[in-house]
Amino acid sequence: MLSKKQARAFFLGGTLVTFLIFIGLTVYSLSEAQDQSNYKDITEQVVRGKHLWESNNCMGCHTLLGEGGYYAPELTKVIERRGEGYVKALLMSPNPWAPNGRKMVAYGFSEDQATDIIAFLKWIGNIDLNGFERVVSPLAKDNN
Ligand code: HEC
Repeated sequence: MLSKKQARAFFLGGTLVTFLIFIGLTVYSLSEAQDQSNYKDITEQVVRGKHLWESNNCMGCHTLLGEGGYYAPELTKVIERRGEGYVKALLMSPNPWAPNGRKMVAYGFSEDQATDIIAFLKWIGNIDLNGFERVVSPLAKDNN
């Protein structure tokens, strides 16, 4: 049996040790080497692309990092998967892009706007996903 004094020392010592471990892990998590968000690569172009992404409701049909609508393909890795040329062509297309049946909105973006969106998609595609790379989409028969 612990005496009252020993119990108090045990409690205070245990609290101190776990508190220090907690602080240590917090510092470690926030250290630069642990950053996975690529925030340094967020250029003005990426920000413009993100605004276009928001204001055109791409999320209504598509997912990024698994978040969004499940009507259309996952786009986190779309630049890697399809290449810039393909994505640019479909963003600038005056006709609905639908090689797989469902229709992508014919936004008819300008070249500058398409390049901004591509910069945003490139940035998100370069985020370190801790191995969660193979996000699938309903239409993505040939995506993997
Ligand atoms: C009304 C639903 C809808 C909206 C809104 C929408 N898309 Fe799409 N998008 C689609 C569909 C459906 C496809 C698949 C077309 C196909 O392959 O037949 C697609 C395809 C794509 C692809 C090619 C994906 C691939 O793997 O081939 C890209 C890139 C894309 N959309 C980007 C965007 C962006 C950027 C926006 C917003 C500016 C947007 N989409 C808004 C429905 C939508």
